[in-house]
Amino acid sequence: MAKTRERRPGIVIMARLIALVGPLAWVIILAVIGGALGFLCAMGVMVFGALGVAKLLGEVVALSYGQIMACAILCGVLRGVLRLWEQYSNHYIAFKLLAVIRDKIFKALRVLCPAKLESKQKGAIIAMLTADIETLEVFYAHTISPICIAVLVSLTVLLFVGFYVSWYLALAALAGSLVIGIVLPLVSSVRLRPSGVAYRKEFASFNGYFLDSVKGVKDIVLNNAGPARAAEVDRRSEKLQEQTAIARRATALASGVTELCVSLFILIALLAGVGLHLSGGLSLGKMIVGVVAIFGSFGPVIAISALPGNLTQTFASGDRVLDLLEEQPSVTPVTDGVDFDFDHLEVRNLTFSYDREPVLRGVFLTARRGEIVGLVGPSGCGKSTLLKLLLRFWEKDGGEILYNGADVAAVNSKSLLDNVTMVSQSTYLFDETIEDNLRMAKPDATREELEEACRKASIHDFIRTLPDGYQTRVGALGDNLSAGERQRLGLARAFLHDSPVILLDEPTSNVDSINEGIILRAIARQKRDKCIILVSHRASTMAIADRVYAIREGIMEQER
Ligand SMILES: Nc1ncnc2c1ncn2[C@@H]1O[C@H](COP(=O)(O)OP(=O)(O)OP(=O)(O)O)[C@@H](O)[C@H]1O
Ligand SMILES: [Mg+2]
Repeated sequence: MAKTRERRPGIVIMARLIALVGPLAWVIILAVIGGALGFLCAMGVMVFGALGVAKLLGEVVALSYGQIMACAILCGVLRGVLRLWEQYSNHYIAFKLLAVIRDKIFKALRVLCPAKLESKQKGAIIAMLTADIETLEVFYAHTISPICIAVLVSLTVLLFVGFYVSWYLALAALAGSLVIGIVLPLVSSVRLRPSGVAYRKEFASFNGYFLDSVKGVKDIVLNNAGPARAAEVDRRSEKLQEQTAIARRATALASGVTELCVSLFILIALLAGVGLHLSGGLSLGKMIVGVVAIFGSFGPVIAISALPGNLTQTFASGDRVLDLLEEQPSVTPVTDGVDFDFDHLEVRNLTFSYDREPVLRGVFLTARRGEIVGLVGPSGCGKSTLLKLLLRFWEKDGGEILYNGADVAAVNSKSLLDNVTMVSQSTYLFDETIEDNLRMAKPDATREELEEACRKASIHDFIRTLPDGYQTRVGALGDNLSAGERQRLGLARAFLHDSPVILLDEPTSNVDSINEGIILRAIARQKRDKCIILVSHRASTMAIADRVYAIREGIMEQER
């Protein structure tokens, strides 16, 4: 269901995202330490240089010129090593942590499905699995560490300047860091938000429309709707460009202001240093060392001010990922229930609604092994819904669904799936070989079993005509499998799975009457030790049913 609640506060998202990767937080800490030490070494080169100049100007320095030079060189070399360390840690974070989060999301989805994937949010979930998780990489590898590095470096420089040079200069450095690293980012994050939000909205709108048009290009051509569609693509593209320009201008302005402030604070530090020296409070040598240190310390702080542009997006992604991880499944898998070996099914006074409108208002049905039960009713009356409830895609609102007398909510989910198979109205085929696609229903099936299932589904002869037979990749066929062929492959899967209960949702809606006859005879032959529940509009299909029920306005009636 669409959420209307506000986004979590940024700080909460950050804390939760860090907690999410808990045990791996040490890698982030390593990256931060490497980064901070690296920065300090880079500054060290300059500070030791300044120290040399200070010594030249008569400052008392405990090190010889040679030692100062050696320290500067050492800092330069260490800088390289530490940079490698930081980069290595950041990449490790990027790959390892993202794998951890993907794993968590898939686990969450496994519990949330199938109900979650039945809903219209499929696109959003795919977007999350791809785009949002990529965005989080930015958070872990390029947001937390810059912030921590900036804090560590600024603090170190502050203490160094304070103790070694002058607390007044340290104060100037602190003011600079606070303004550049905190005030400016906050202000620009507020200012950039509207243009960022508008940009992403246009971006999503353009992408969605464009992809949709590519997917539906056949129907566009058939309806001669090309020119109108192209005009709309142009219009959205132009709007997107406008928004891009606006967002770019805002970002450019923000970075310009930051640069200005950096120059300003360097000037302030310099003036303060000169002032202190002239008033006799500070030797020239120390003044140079202090001002050089402050110049250098702004580097990591500037990096923070470049963040807000990304951060809003990162927070939005983080918020969506947290939402999914926290979502309560509409159905929790049962593992401590009962196992059963199907004998009979009884549905009593079942009621169900998706939103508010009830779909099923009073459904009664019985079915046992050796029977074919037919289900008819107008389109949209809830036939597919009933089959899905038998598999507990959703929790029912009221009534009972009893397998051997045990309620569907009390039997183990695995046992339920072992006993009941459904062939839905649309069969999904993976981009693998036909054999792999069938085998997923029974991984250890023999070749004979495989072919036997295909014969029953009246698809064996067709598969033999394919260039590589059972080894033909479905992807290689593109969209060239007809709806009926797909449907029959779905049936073959179900026959191979060989569970006692088979739910068939319109199994013959896309096949001609000859194939329908073959499939129905195969279904009828299975009936001896199976229970088959068959949904169909066709009277000819219903001919093989032992009993037929009809759903009218949510109420089930037995027709014959
Ligand atoms: N995931 C869902 N969320 C909300 N409403 C749904 C969902 N799935 C189906 N519905 C609605 O529930 C009603 C029953 O749908 P269902 O698919 O069970 O009908 P059906 O009898 O199988 O129809 P058909 O013969 O066309 O396949 C319809 O009004 C449909 O729009
Ligand atoms: Mg249906």
